[in-house]
Amino acid sequence: MNSPSRTTPPTPVLVADLRTEYHRGELTEEAAGDDPYSLFRRWFDEAVAGGGRDPNAMSLATVDAAGQPSVRIVLCKEYDSRGFVFYTNFSSRKGLELAGNPQASLLFYWAELERQVRISGRVEKVADADADLYFGQRPRGARIGAWASPQSQPIPGRGLLEARTAEMEQRFDGQADPPRPAHWGGYRVAPGMIEFWQGRPSRLHDRLLYTRHLSVWQRTRLAP
Ligand SMILES: Cc1cc2nc3c(=O)[nH]c(=O)nc-3n(C[C@H](O)[C@H](O)[C@H](O)COP(=O)(O)O)c2cc1C
Repeated sequence: MNSPSRTTPPTPVLVADLRTEYHRGELTEEAAGDDPYSLFRRWFDEAVAGGGRDPNAMSLATVDAAGQPSVRIVLCKEYDSRGFVFYTNFSSRKGLELAGNPQASLLFYWAELERQVRISGRVEKVADADADLYFGQRPRGARIGAWASPQSQPIPGRGLLEARTAEMEQRFDGQADPPRPAHWGGYRVAPGMIEFWQGRPSRLHDRLLYTRHLSVWQRTRLAP
């Protein structure tokens, strides 16, 4: 059967006029230094101070068994020289993909600073005790939600979420601290590479790539 697009070509929505010149900063080797975590920390603090929404939002890319990538946003809840931590449902699509292939890529984009940071590396689960600690700090509604929502599963409608939430509220009624469900916890992405991108005029952006060799970071400038 002919697809309609054979006979009627689609009319493209022209967005080519959306152009931005990037001019807010530069990234020199001297300013960047040798330690990508120190640089990340400086950029992260500036993103927080810059007042943009969700400065800790990062795109997380995973890959399924057929090699099909998928990407979604999660919130970075902690970072240090071991890596970048987010929390989620282990039975979600990302959880299943990470169980099959514990490699991921992360992307922070801070539009108001004209910066992105790309990270990739191996993923491991956060220790139970740390996940318990973080879970315990979440608002009660979010803790109940972690019990109630079968993340990434098809559901017949919102009614199911409401019914399961009511069920869980009843189950934990009178309990100040609902425990962390076994299907919920944290992952840490331990980077093998971190790339910093600073927008510059005329698309001549600054890109500095750090790659880890055992515990030593090597820095390389990439063409934009
Ligand atoms: C700003 C923002 C923050 C989010 N933070 C998280 C998060 O920290 N953890 C999480 O599991 N999902 C988070 N989500 C929802 C995910 O993007 C995604 O819809 C969900 O995790 C299911 O993904 P999956 O089916 O690929 O597993 C967030 C979405 C947005 C837009």
